[in-house]
Amino acid sequence: MQPYEIINGFSRLSRSEKVSWLERQAGLSGEILRQINGHLHPDPELQEIYGEISENTISNYFLPLGIAPNFLVNERLLAVPMVIEESSVVAAASHAAKFWARHGGFHATVRDTVKVGQVHLTWTGSPEQLEKIFDDSRKQLLEGLKPLTLRMENRGGGIREMELRQGSRAIPGYYQLFVTFRTADAMGANFINSVLETLARDLRELVEQHLPAGELEVVMSILSNYTPESLVTCQVESTAEVFNGLDPALSGEDFARKFVQAIEIAEHDPYRAVTHNKGIFNGMDAVILATGNDFRAVEACGHAYAARKGQYTSLSRAELNGKRFKLTLEVPLAVGTVGGLTGTHPMARASLEILGNPSAEGLMEVIATAGLANHFSAIRSLVTTGIQKGHMKMHLGNILRQLGASEDESRQAIAHFSQRTVSHSEVRDFLESLRMGNRPV
Ligand code: MEV
Repeated sequence: MQPYEIINGFSRLSRSEKVSWLERQAGLSGEILRQINGHLHPDPELQEIYGEISENTISNYFLPLGIAPNFLVNERLLAVPMVIEESSVVAAASHAAKFWARHGGFHATVRDTVKVGQVHLTWTGSPEQLEKIFDDSRKQLLEGLKPLTLRMENRGGGIREMELRQGSRAIPGYYQLFVTFRTADAMGANFINSVLETLARDLRELVEQHLPAGELEVVMSILSNYTPESLVTCQVESTAEVFNGLDPALSGEDFARKFVQAIEIAEHDPYRAVTHNKGIFNGMDAVILATGNDFRAVEACGHAYAARKGQYTSLSRAELNGKRFKLTLEVPLAVGTVGGLTGTHPMARASLEILGNPSAEGLMEVIATAGLANHFSAIRSLVTTGIQKGHMKMHLGNILRQLGASEDESRQAIAHFSQRTVSHSEVRDFLESLRMGNRPV
């Protein structure tokens, strides 16, 4: 393959022109071109919707939308939609959901939904002068934002607090307007950014009227994805006896004790904590994606929260008091159920419908619950059979599908690999010898 050439105006090419350009530049095979064209939606109107979600679209990239049923969340049974590229995640969520549905279910509570935005600025005058200008103009600034905030206020949201903060002293003359918001059922990024940009412009104009007290420069205005006050907790609680029989070698109490130890390790060891939290995000991200929310924002926020005390640690905690076991997840989440992709992506709309069209708070509860469910399944496997047994079962299914195994071949392969290590080449060899009439030993 030759290196790509610089192209101007790529975005203005039609979809087929873009594909032809790629074909020439990357030397794509006929098979790859068939795949690219074959993954377009047959309904042109829907294809237009998908194509316009981002830019320079040449095709669609499918991921499965799966359902994890039997989620008992705050006494209500739910089927949870999940979109994820990793096998085992939906199955693990479903197993944990069914287990906990029999043992009291998940209890989730939203603590608050406060969002944050910042206008970052520099000021050459004294802090007192800037504070005075800000205090004197606070009312006027808020008044100037009314055209933007009124509709949000009618929906129960709006600006909560606005303060001038001195920023890091490492940056000379650095200040910020630190603004907190509630955004009702919207994630609120557009609303917050519009408010901040207007606020920055109005503040600059007001300061210019107070010259020559100092010079103010707005560096940037942007929401913060760190929302430690937009917090949800989710919990399961039971007597350790419910774990009897989960592993033939462990009593329920021993299982609970090992489980608590696994969480303690993640509390103290960042190497383990990252993987531990990744297992939580397996479930959370899958629901976030299914409902058209921003998983990068939630991830960035969650990991920052996990490191808020100076060391990266577990987002979950577990305790065993006598025979009473409790597992809790506490995580910040900023999501929406109106606006953005939730209204335009047909499958995001379907996912919200499957969940009974929850409020943003309701969705926060479901996301945290899915995170806790996957986490429970992960730790359960880790402290008993190990993670590979379940993974390999799924992996084997995927390989068999890829290799076009028949039902009978799959049955024989599953039996054969029940006690053996699964790899693509081993499964291929097994199928080949089956097909040649040689039953492998
Ligand atoms: C794999 O996707 C997730 C786990 O590694 C999580 C964990 O280790 O807790 C199994």
